[in-house]
Amino acid sequence: MEVKNQSSISDFLLLGFSEHQEQQPLLFGLFLGMYLVTLLGNLLIILAIGSDPHLHTPMYFFLANLSFVDTCFTCTIVPKVLVNIHTQQHTISHTGCLLQMYYFMALALLDDFLLAIMAYDRYVAICLPLHYTTVMCPQLLVATSWLCSNLLALSLTLQMAQLSFCASHSIPHFFCDVPPLLKLACSDTHTFQVTMLTEAILSGIIPLTCILVSYAHIMHTILRIPSAGRKHKVFSTCGSHLTVVTVFYGTLFLPEEQACEGGFVETV
Ligand SMILES: *[C@@H]1O[C@H](CO)[C@@H](O)[C@H](O)[C@H]1NC(C)=O
Repeated sequence: MEVKNQSSISDFLLLGFSEHQEQQPLLFGLFLGMYLVTLLGNLLIILAIGSDPHLHTPMYFFLANLSFVDTCFTCTIVPKVLVNIHTQQHTISHTGCLLQMYYFMALALLDDFLLAIMAYDRYVAICLPLHYTTVMCPQLLVATSWLCSNLLALSLTLQMAQLSFCASHSIPHFFCDVPPLLKLACSDTHTFQVTMLTEAILSGIIPLTCILVSYAHIMHTILRIPSAGRKHKVFSTCGSHLTVVTVFYGTLFLPEEQACEGGFVETV
């Protein structure tokens, strides 16, 4: 096979869409279309927020950060899928695979942390409006999230780099996701799995708790507002955040196969 000739021993094969030869042009078009829509949509959001001084508030900065993260997220996965479908070579180098895994995890964690920060932002804005400017420190919150998500992703990626892959190098997926890589590893993955589980639980529970507690306080405050019109107005400032949260956690809780596709669609 020509694929073998040009690839080194340590390369991986991403076989996610390698079957169904006749559907390759369709897949290519579909991915390209979604890719362009995602890029365009997110860039428009960032531009709109950047250019309108009315939108220079922490909530919209967070939203712009979320768009930026989604743009990067798409860029770590889709271009490689497009190249692989186009060239019909499904290889990715060992380093490329680790990098993809690193960015995928770091950006997914960052998305998760930003959603929690946005919930906190809504909580402070609605429940402690008088303290908003003193309590809210967007730069610090964003910087901490970047740092945490990168450190968490780095620790897992460094551990993954230690694993050896001796038998198959074929990943039945369209990017270097952690579970399929782990299945291929032939060294002991126990430490890795313990680290991953700990990180997954922490990064799952802490932001979700933050979101739930914030909204519990928000609901409590809103229910005490006497006028129905004002109730609705206050609640509507949470609308865009609630939508993103629902989509994000909705796709997380799907079964694995669908979650991969859902996770991809979510960024669109
Ligand atoms: C991300 O948020 C920070 C803090 O609010 C802000 O200064 C920065 O401009 C935002 N980045 C983007 C790309 O909008």
